Amino acid sequence: MTTPLQKTDAKVFRLIQKEEKRQQETLSMIPSENWFSPSVREAVGSVFSHKYAEGNIGSRYYEGTDIVDELETLAIDRAKKAFNLLRSWGVNVQALSGSSANLAVYLALLQPGDTILAMYLPDGGHLSHGWSFEPDAKKREKEVKSGLLVYTGGSKKVNITSLLYNPVQYKTDPDTSQFNYKEIEKIALKYKPKLIITGGTAYPRIINHRKIKAIAKKIGAFYMADVAHEAGLIAGGAFPSPVGIADVVTMTTHKTLRSGRGAIILAKQDLIEKINRAILPGLQGGPHNHNIAGICVGLGEAAKPAFKKYAAQIIKNTSALADALKAQEFKLVTDGSDKHFVLIDLSQEPILGRPFARILAHAGITTNYSTMPWDARPPRNPSALRLGTPVLTTRGMKEKEMAQVAQWIREAMNIAEPWKELSFEKLEQEVIKSKDVKQIAKEVKDLCKKFPLH
Ligand SMILES: Cc1ncc(COP(=O)(O)O)c(C=O)c1O
Repeated sequence: MTTPLQKTDAKVFRLIQKEEKRQQETLSMIPSENWFSPSVREAVGSVFSHKYAEGNIGSRYYEGTDIVDELETLAIDRAKKAFNLLRSWGVNVQALSGSSANLAVYLALLQPGDTILAMYLPDGGHLSHGWSFEPDAKKREKEVKSGLLVYTGGSKKVNITSLLYNPVQYKTDPDTSQFNYKEIEKIALKYKPKLIITGGTAYPRIINHRKIKAIAKKIGAFYMADVAHEAGLIAGGAFPSPVGIADVVTMTTHKTLRSGRGAIILAKQDLIEKINRAILPGLQGGPHNHNIAGICVGLGEAAKPAFKKYAAQIIKNTSALADALKAQEFKLVTDGSDKHFVLIDLSQEPILGRPFARILAHAGITTNYSTMPWDARPPRNPSALRLGTPVLTTRGMKEKEMAQVAQWIREAMNIAEPWKELSFEKLEQEVIKSKDVKQIAKEVKDLCKKFPLH
């Protein structure tokens, strides 16, 4: 059957087909990605996309919004159930992305110039929590050594959070690469932030929300937990929740939560009203109702027993992957993981993060290179590789397949070792010619066929 798109725009139709084939025939191990159900995709592609609905439920700036109101009410109700919200808490589902959600919280709770204390970006924090650096090497050398595990940034402000606010960042412990709560407390007492943030993209361990809230309380700061990565694990009951402890919880909806693309903000009622006003008129125009429809369907799926199993299996698969990688003599940051991804420390391996990610991509395994705590290398060529299991688990893969993946990863490293002195471009030319890399890609494709994405 010919689809309307195929008839009217064969070029885009072909690109969609090609991308779907790529996703089907390779292993996506990027921990922030997932594969949505056909129902979520139907909702995202629906007529809700046509409607303007600036404002909140029952008080919009446009007519014809009764049905959007019903949809948003349903999404909020489902979010309240998924995250066991207390009665005194409210929900916003309108932020267009995780970064916008975080910005809306800052706009609601802070004044320009206020200090934010968040996790050091290279240790696994997130850009939307602020980042600046010192381009002048001489000035960098003169940085005041405070004796604390803290980073106060430099003159080059690279994003809106650092342009508007004053980010101070806590580093992980040099011995464990994990949070050092005593140290975070000392930093908080010294810099007196108005907001403390936890959460990030590459911290593989559980965060103790009670300890952070206690620190925030001591200095009268708000505590925001950004659980963009862990949202699905929390909704599935497989991971500790900050709800009821933190003052605000933000999350993306399209990672482990496997819903439409967007964000959810949970906060105490008085704060959510401020956050609603920060979203509109503060930051955004019309909400993306089609994505809210997708989020709503995804939250409906997350309420089913199958999702609980999914979340639990993600953790089991990651733990199996961690064990299998260690058995293949890879070193892991923090020696393992409590959640949906592992970070391999490649600093003692012949090939580092960026080239190794490219080698694996040619072998059919899509990953991303990453910084890691106390990495001596720059972010564009860091020492670590981040590998997640959410998509593999959506495919129905279990522990046995994780062991196979770890074996391919070691094989790829062995194949590439002779090219370790080559430039990135020359190394890639060798990879493209390599029969051994092609063989892994073929085996990956065969495995993917056994576990298709529906
Ligand atoms: C911890 C964290 N916060 C915020 C975001 C930003 O989400 P988005 O890409 O939707 O802006 C991400 C995305 O990776 C994230 O990992």
